[in-house]
Amino acid sequence: MVVARTRAVALHGVEGSLVEIEADLANGLPAFTIIGLPDAALGEAKDRVRSAAANSGLDLPNRKVTVNLSPASLPKHGSAFDVAIAVAALATTGLLALDAVAETVHIGELSLDGRLRPVAGVLPAVLAARRSGARLVVVPWGNRGEAELVPGIRIVGAATLREVLALHGAALDPPTDPVEPIAAPAPRESIATDGDLADVVGHPEAVEALQVAAAGGHHLLMLGPPGAGKTLLASRLPGLLPDLDTDAAVEVSSVRSLAGLGLGDGLVRRPPLEAPHHSATMASLVGGGSGLVRPGAISRAAHGVLFLDEAPEFAGAVLDALRQPLETGEITIHRARTVARFPARFQLVLAANPCPCGQAGTIDADCTCTPIMRRRYLARLSGPLLDRIDLHLTVRRVGAAQLTGQDAGAVTTAEARLRVTNARERTRERWGSEGWTTNARVPGPVLRGAAWRLPSHDRAPLDRALERGALTMRGYDRVLRVAWSLADLDGASRPEAEHVGRALYLRRGI
Ligand SMILES: Nc1ncnc2c1ncn2[C@@H]1O[C@H](COP(=O)(O)OP(=O)(O)O)[C@@H](O)[C@H]1O
Ligand SMILES: [Mg+2]
Ligand SMILES: [Zn+2]
Repeated sequence: MVVARTRAVALHGVEGSLVEIEADLANGLPAFTIIGLPDAALGEAKDRVRSAAANSGLDLPNRKVTVNLSPASLPKHGSAFDVAIAVAALATTGLLALDAVAETVHIGELSLDGRLRPVAGVLPAVLAARRSGARLVVVPWGNRGEAELVPGIRIVGAATLREVLALHGAALDPPTDPVEPIAAPAPRESIATDGDLADVVGHPEAVEALQVAAAGGHHLLMLGPPGAGKTLLASRLPGLLPDLDTDAAVEVSSVRSLAGLGLGDGLVRRPPLEAPHHSATMASLVGGGSGLVRPGAISRAAHGVLFLDEAPEFAGAVLDALRQPLETGEITIHRARTVARFPARFQLVLAANPCPCGQAGTIDADCTCTPIMRRRYLARLSGPLLDRIDLHLTVRRVGAAQLTGQDAGAVTTAEARLRVTNARERTRERWGSEGWTTNARVPGPVLRGAAWRLPSHDRAPLDRALERGALTMRGYDRVLRVAWSLADLDGASRPEAEHVGRALYLRRGI
């Protein structure tokens, strides 16, 4: 009896754990059995491994081979276990150095001809391998660039199963024909975010509100008729956000990798934008899938912007699903015996027409909706959701004359980003040590507490609005948060009456 061992990584969300793969060669009728994989994946892995080995000129031993993936309790999804299974099975023949194989982590799918096929999730898998103390990871050639983004661990990119075996000391003749390695698919851009803020004509209030949203990490609601420029404005928000720090860049890149979107030549350093359509399914928003659990739009927007255009048209269940990530900054997907965790701290931008027909408030106002219809339409955005949105903005259509004219005063993305970055620096100096990196995250009681309370003459209009019943306590806190962002943008040490006044104005949308 010979037992050979090697390792692979099981992913659950952006986290992963090492899996041990052991192959046992026993006397008995020729058979190839894999245990420890979910039923659906089993047959396929077996067929791929058998064909890949045969087409590499490496037949599996002509005896009873049993491969076990342990711990059995750990669910394993996806096709990235193929290479490890093949290596363990072939190692029982005495072809390989058993101890070298045992220490190595193998990630990759096998194609039937024996080449290694790139897989999703290599970045988080290599990170998990390093965290577990592994020193060498073999990945498909097409994934090597992504794997090499992880420092402090040796990466080998292999094009074929024979190359993997040669690495472990197998004496194999070089292939007669050169083999074309399988490349990873080219990275796919979800949505371009490189348009400039200066493209926005007019709308000085909206342009200012975008900068406030970016500076304070505030969620934003835009109400306005079709064609008013809501989508244009939302697409400019990611550009105003500062570059991602390394932790955030690793998270965003890991999510992209798991989503199968691929990475360019390095970690993603710019905040993403996701704009799912209102007909999108729950799984495409939240994440899921039958094999490897894939992140949804909500997670792909982490550290960036989630834009829901025509927000009232989204299914109620979908809007409700935003509440957990808005509260905790992550999303958990429950599967049998496991929980997949994905980051989901995004900035939410909702856009809505003012009424079902979209014409309310336009100049030619031929809206036929009744007041009840209008109220019902917006009421689809539930109270708890609207409660988290600090900025409510009304966007009107810009006249044709303005659209075609020159706009000398337009703010560019570069200018705005610099302003935002400086404002965030001020916020961090003030509250970073408490763990609040943006004003939107500071709890209301802190803002109203002795240490940070504004002098009563500066908050007078706010107090009056509260007494009149025009603001709830939550609304009061939101105005304070926005006032702090306005002060940070102005380089003021604390909000003054004028900031409070502008903050109140920025919420008057609905
Ligand atoms: N203020 C504006 N400045 C420049 N272009 C605008 C402006 N408002 C609208 N547009 C243009 O008009 C079209 C419709 O705008 P869009 O952002 O899709 O509106 P909405 O999302 O509110 O329906 C787009 O091509 C957009 O670029
Ligand atoms: Mg639009
Ligand atoms: Zn209408």
